[in-house]
Amino acid sequence: MNQNELKQAVARVARDYVAAHLPEGGILGVGTGSTANCFIDEIASLKGRIGGCVASSEATRLRLESHGLPVFDLNDVVARGLSMPIYVDGADEIDGQLAMIKGGGGALTREKIVAAMAGTFVCICDASKKVATLGNFPLPLEVIPMAREQVSRQLIELTGGEPRLRAGFITDNGNEILDVHGLSISDPVALEEKLERIIGVVCNGLFARRGADVLLLATQEGVITQQR
Ligand code: A5P
Repeated sequence: MNQNELKQAVARVARDYVAAHLPEGGILGVGTGSTANCFIDEIASLKGRIGGCVASSEATRLRLESHGLPVFDLNDVVARGLSMPIYVDGADEIDGQLAMIKGGGGALTREKIVAAMAGTFVCICDASKKVATLGNFPLPLEVIPMAREQVSRQLIELTGGEPRLRAGFITDNGNEILDVHGLSISDPVALEEKLERIIGVVCNGLFARRGADVLLLATQEGVITQQR
């Protein structure tokens, strides 16, 4: 199977996971990216069963709506006292403890917000994303544009990595992305907390404190399930 076929295979398994575990009429959080897109196409078949979706990006919202899947505003979901039992999303890298680097598509802030509310975070990816140590994939941070230079300097000092502005890219929230190259992240939880303290950083792409609960990993031998 090529990478696209692996993404489609894991998307089908994730659809079956949702069919088995999401209560009838429940709210589903939906991630962003090419693997998440395969998943969205798969859950179109569960339309009558899913009460509504919360989208982690505008691109995801549009794709869900194109299938006729109802998309709810997260504030409305919370205000109505509803829960979100499951959130399904991809990752750029994931380690053995199910900590992740996310944000390759630039949707990290909304993804982290939706993930924080979810009961179970189900990560879906192909085997190329599984790593022993996070950091080979450049770590994205969403930054307030006026703080970009001062944040870059602090990132160099703190991590020893090389922050690069993602040229021509603006997030759904109107901010910029710095991608930090050259990292080897031995303690993802500690680094995530340090990055959160930098003024001007809206969100960092380390999902370690709230990592995935379930990993569905597409390999040539089939889709493997790992629980945290
Ligand atoms: C989006 O901002 C990201 O966090 C994606 O979830 C991640 O980049 C995985 O995307 P792919 O499935 O396209 O590799």
